[in-house]
Amino acid sequence: MAKTKNLGKVFQSPFRYPGGKGFLSEYLENELLKIDVDIPDYAEPYAGGAGAAIKLLSAGKVRRIRINDADQRIFSAWSAILNDNERFIHSIDEVRVDIKNWNKYAEIVKNPALAQDPFQLGFATFFLNRTNRSGIILKAGPIGGHKQAGDWKLDARFNKDSLIKRIKWIGEKSDHITLSNHDGLAYLKRAGKAAYSRKTLFFVDPPYVKAGGRLYLNLMTERKHKQLGEYLEGGHIPHWVVTYDHCPLIEDIYSRSHQSDLTVVYSLQKKRNQRELLIKSPSLAA
Ligand SMILES: C[S@@+](CC[C@H](N)C(=O)[O-])C[C@H]1O[C@@H](n2cnc3c(N)ncnc32)[C@H](O)[C@@H]1O
Repeated sequence: MAKTKNLGKVFQSPFRYPGGKGFLSEYLENELLKIDVDIPDYAEPYAGGAGAAIKLLSAGKVRRIRINDADQRIFSAWSAILNDNERFIHSIDEVRVDIKNWNKYAEIVKNPALAQDPFQLGFATFFLNRTNRSGIILKAGPIGGHKQAGDWKLDARFNKDSLIKRIKWIGEKSDHITLSNHDGLAYLKRAGKAAYSRKTLFFVDPPYVKAGGRLYLNLMTERKHKQLGEYLEGGHIPHWVVTYDHCPLIEDIYSRSHQSDLTVVYSLQKKRNQRELLIKSPSLAA
């Protein structure tokens, strides 16, 4: 059984993520105990805000987290936080959270070629993630609307002190965080050949089949979802957990695997319950 130690404060991801899975960290903690190493590693091939990864690392439940996302914007944001931490903190401290900046950063996020450098693209992505409705980076408007006439204003989710604490902690832990920018399946295939994959829990949270494209970049097709399922069920990677929206396609793809229901309360505008599917590798299903 894995030995774990609690290192003190559990940090939240600095991102707000539609469909974010920070709330699954306790469930994943139990799955990690089934991996027969002292303290396992943990990887998210479709990381987004890496909500569970950050909680698990800060709680001392995993030794290293590997976060991968195909979206250049999300990757740039993580990269700026990890590799240019002080500049990122300074930028949060200095930035005016107003519609003028929202417009400037929205243009950059829409057209990354406009960014002066990858850092600016990363910061623009982060700014929009914290100031857009529901944390949707691409297809949502600003909290409080363009006229800022509502009760909620643009900075409602931009608490500088709290964000700086989280970002600073990530900077301190950067030696324990590996970042990459590949297609999730290509990433998994490469990982499957590497020795570290034997002692790693892979938490696979791909774009939803139905609503994915509305919420974030969705580079998945039906064929890709099938290929992912075939690869995971092929046993190349011992320990994995997958989450999806409930739909016949996914139930069918993973028909040989252990499936269970997950009821999640999301607040995308209105709070709503959503049934999701949780599927796991044979090594964890026992
Ligand atoms: C459901 S979200 C992940 C949310 C994450 N678990 C969290 O807690 O924040 C899916 C992520 O997959 C990324 N993505 C979309 N297509 C991808 C692909 N083919 N390969 C890797 N990442 C992809 C999106 O950019 C998005 O960040």
